[in-house]
Amino acid sequence: MADAAEQLTIRAFTEADRGAVKDLWRACGLIVPHNDPDRDIDGAAGKPNSDILVGLAPDGRIAASVMVGHDGHRGWLYYVAVAPSRQGQGLGRDIVASGEAWLRAKGVPKAQLMIRETNLAVRDFYASLGWRPIPRLVMERWL
Ligand SMILES: CC(C)(COP(=O)(O)OP(=O)(O)OC[C@H]1O[C@@H](n2cnc3c(N)ncnc32)[C@H](O)[C@@H]1OP(=O)(O)O)[C@@H](O)C(=O)NCCC(=O)NCCS
Repeated sequence: MADAAEQLTIRAFTEADRGAVKDLWRACGLIVPHNDPDRDIDGAAGKPNSDILVGLAPDGRIAASVMVGHDGHRGWLYYVAVAPSRQGQGLGRDIVASGEAWLRAKGVPKAQLMIRETNLAVRDFYASLGWRPIPRLVMERWL
């Protein structure tokens, strides 16, 4: 596997990235009817406790993303995505590491993420990066 660090330049989301980021999320199956991607971007990008990191391929195109955020207690990763044509080359490892580094720099001791039931195969990807499942039931309520 090629060195992912040579393949991806990671920086914070800028407004000009919006269309490409949404295309990436759509191509990766991460856009679902109950989540509005524009609202998610507006809520997270460039905020003190959250951001969206994008990974640029050498051609300048957005090839990967991760949304990061924390509440001072725990940090979260969302929208972990690598463009389908670039998957399997270590970019997922690189973008997750960048999200972890962002949280670590904020002093957050623990990172968590959620995997949809329809996407359970991806747990082996996170396991290979040192993540482990925890026995918790996540609950939600629309406000
Ligand atoms: C999941 C995803 C981000 C992985 O990105 P990627 O660039 O293909 O992953 P990498 O090439 O960095 O793989 C890192 C390691 O995980 C392993 N891996 C990757 N995808 C895997 C999978 N589906 N099942 C098992 N292992 C996997 C790789 O073999 C590699 O292991 P290695 O370093 O020992 O060779 C990418 O497949 C994706 O965008 N999927 C669609 C969106 C999605 O499901 N996101 C996660 C939401 S929770």
